[in-house]
Amino acid sequence: MDPTAEIESGLSAFGEDFRAQFAAASSEQDLRAARAELLGKKGRLTQLLKLMGKVPADKRRELGEAVNATKQEVEQSFEARLKELGAAARKADLEATPFDLSMPGRSPAPRGHLHPLTQVRDEILDTFRDLGFSVAWGPQVELESNNFTKLAFPPDHPATDMQDSFWVKVEGAPADARVLLRTHTSNVQVREMSRHEPPMAVVSGGAVFRRDDDVTHSPMFHQIEGFLVDENVSFAHLKGVLTAFAQRMYGEHVSVRFRPSYFPFVEPGAELDVECVFCTETTKGDCRVCKGTRWLEVLGCGMVHPAVLEHCNIDSERFTGFAFGLGVERVAMLRYGIPDIRVLFENDPRFLAQF
Ligand code: DAH
Repeated sequence: MDPTAEIESGLSAFGEDFRAQFAAASSEQDLRAARAELLGKKGRLTQLLKLMGKVPADKRRELGEAVNATKQEVEQSFEARLKELGAAARKADLEATPFDLSMPGRSPAPRGHLHPLTQVRDEILDTFRDLGFSVAWGPQVELESNNFTKLAFPPDHPATDMQDSFWVKVEGAPADARVLLRTHTSNVQVREMSRHEPPMAVVSGGAVFRRDDDVTHSPMFHQIEGFLVDENVSFAHLKGVLTAFAQRMYGEHVSVRFRPSYFPFVEPGAELDVECVFCTETTKGDCRVCKGTRWLEVLGCGMVHPAVLEHCNIDSERFTGFAFGLGVERVAMLRYGIPDIRVLFENDPRFLAQF
């Protein structure tokens, strides 16, 4: 076919086509897709333009103008149809069921947060960090020697009954390597003192395990352990550091007292009490939290027993230290007035959402 005639008839067919396609487009998206196809690289207009080279020179200008006119027409009718579709969409919007401002909103998905025990643990660790302690961690499955022997518990010490341990069978382990779930975080004392030279000031926290189960005891609970070893450390340092801790936790003006107590790995040993922060003028003498004693037990502490230092290869003639340990659940239960320890481990969102 003669290229001139082919372009001419192609243009007129193309004209009919694009009008029909634009009219049929029922959304802006369809309309834009139709235009892209009609004018695109593979579109028919582009194919026709390729024939231009074969058209005799004297016809070229006339045909070129016709092609341009068609292109313009496509653009114009595209714009016109676009307006039409926009107006129709807006009209449909306005006529649709109106937006109901009184509908309840959709709340964003609830955000989680740290467990209250983790919050309390971190707060205690941070308080000691601020006092210059570093943080270390220890294992929950431990050798009897790190949990008891090196902490100067004599063999068959009643504490091993008192703490009624969970013993663990380790396949293939030597008979004398007895393994248990640690009954306290004091194992970290042994591990850190054996690995490092004094001076050192370390706190640790984590889960411990005892065969205990009632409203204030759980077979798994959490403790914080701390200790400081250096030359010339005295009981005055212990009192200074632990008083500073208690006042940061319970209020700057809270009174504290140290009561003699016994733990095999300290000498002398003590317990730290803080003035009951729950007593008020009206409850004094009849406070449910301190049971009328006006004091709350906060932690066990003492001067590290020389035998413990020696078991960790620290010269007990040159170095002294103090140590302390406290229960995380107890701090949380006192602070939030939680009467039953078990709710801390049930993970009921109605409880956890309150923190
Ligand atoms: N380990 C003790 C317990 O579980 C707590 C404790 C008492 C830790 C005195 C200490 C300490 O470091 O000096 O009951």
